[in-house]
Amino acid sequence: PDGLIADELGRPLHDLRISVTDRCNFRCVYCMPRAVFDKDYAFLPHTALLSFEEITRLASLFVAHGVHKIRLTGGEPLLRKHIEKLIAMLSALKTPDGKELDLTLTTNGSLLAKKAQALKDAGLKRVTVSLDALDEGIFKRMNDADFPVADVLHGLDVAHQVGLGPIKVNMVVKRGVNEQEILPMARHFKNTPYILRFIEYMDVGASNGWKMDEVVSSAEVAQLIQSELPMQPLAANYLGETAQRWRYADGSGEIGLISSVTQAFCHDCSRARLSTEGKLYTCLFASAGHDLRALLRSDGSDREISSVIGQLWRTRDDRYSEQRTQNTEGLAPARKKVEMSYIGG
Ligand code: GTP
Ligand code: 5AD
Ligand code: SF4
Ligand code: SF4
Repeated sequence: PDGLIADELGRPLHDLRISVTDRCNFRCVYCMPRAVFDKDYAFLPHTALLSFEEITRLASLFVAHGVHKIRLTGGEPLLRKHIEKLIAMLSALKTPDGKELDLTLTTNGSLLAKKAQALKDAGLKRVTVSLDALDEGIFKRMNDADFPVADVLHGLDVAHQVGLGPIKVNMVVKRGVNEQEILPMARHFKNTPYILRFIEYMDVGASNGWKMDEVVSSAEVAQLIQSELPMQPLAANYLGETAQRWRYADGSGEIGLISSVTQAFCHDCSRARLSTEGKLYTCLFASAGHDLRALLRSDGSDREISSVIGQLWRTRDDRYSEQRTQNTEGLAPARKKVEMSYIGG
């Protein structure tokens, strides 16, 4: 039950995150700053992307290795044409013991109201929606695009109505930009079906100009919320969960704190990432991936590809965030890292 292969540090492979496009209609300052991702930025050409057939074939090999959760990411996954077709293909996959996958997707919510029903019909189980502020001005300062907060909130409601729950809302907190929205967001999502999660701003990629003093620690977020809305800690839902869970003492819901900077969770990390063009990354902060598309397109057999995947996982020893914690200043800028929009959040 605990995965069929383990890496060098004994961690099973449970979770596959697939980036289906490197494009996005937002320009979040912590992910795709407009100064870098401008009109001249070279996004991948269509032929470079894995096709739905290629993605599904690789996914089935990962599932045979123990993956039981698949998350589609990007960029913005709902920008990929006919994404519901891919979801239908993936939702037909079964784990070796015959169970359905936990099939989910991370979206900025801008197209969610329009697509929620089709996603549900195709077999998507749930969605996670990014939302960094309720205040229009602050929202816009975080994502440098022109979408009303109301569109995202409407998307959430439609997704809930069609049964794409439990729905989580991810808020990245960046000091000096949206920290004043922590309490308004907590108040807003209390007593709703949505689980709000606060995420520490990470040094992912090479273009967001990350500095440690722009990180608002989960400890600080927890203290702020506690001061107004008393909370109690909850146990994790599963081993390797990214969020620490808290429930409101008055029973009006739960929140999560994702502390990848101040309390790294590499020790239980069971996540593999497949980039938009089919490279396998064994860490969000890896500097290189393994080209599975080359194997697919040179007629590699399932057995060959499967054995490469197994080999890559067994020799995995990544634990970047824990190492960064030990060496915050030295490690962050020194390493070459791929962008989150390419590798998939
Ligand atoms: P659930 O299945 O709902 O528990 O989702 P999840 O927390 O596994 O995935 P989600 O995409 O919602 O992750 C939330 C955020 O946590 C991401 O956007 C990242 O900021 C961060 N995160 C997720 N996985 C990792 C990881 O492996 N390493 C690090 N450093 N951060 C991660
Ligand atoms: N730090 C933390 N989370 C990030 N994301 C993207 N870039 C960063 C970063 N630098 C995550 C956010 C967002 C999702 C799509 O990716 O959670 O909601
Ligand atoms: Fe787009 Fe999500 Fe990155 Fe924002 S965080 S730029 S919405 S992919
Ligand atoms: Fe996993 Fe790498 Fe994130 Fe650590 S830094 S939790 S090893 S993806």
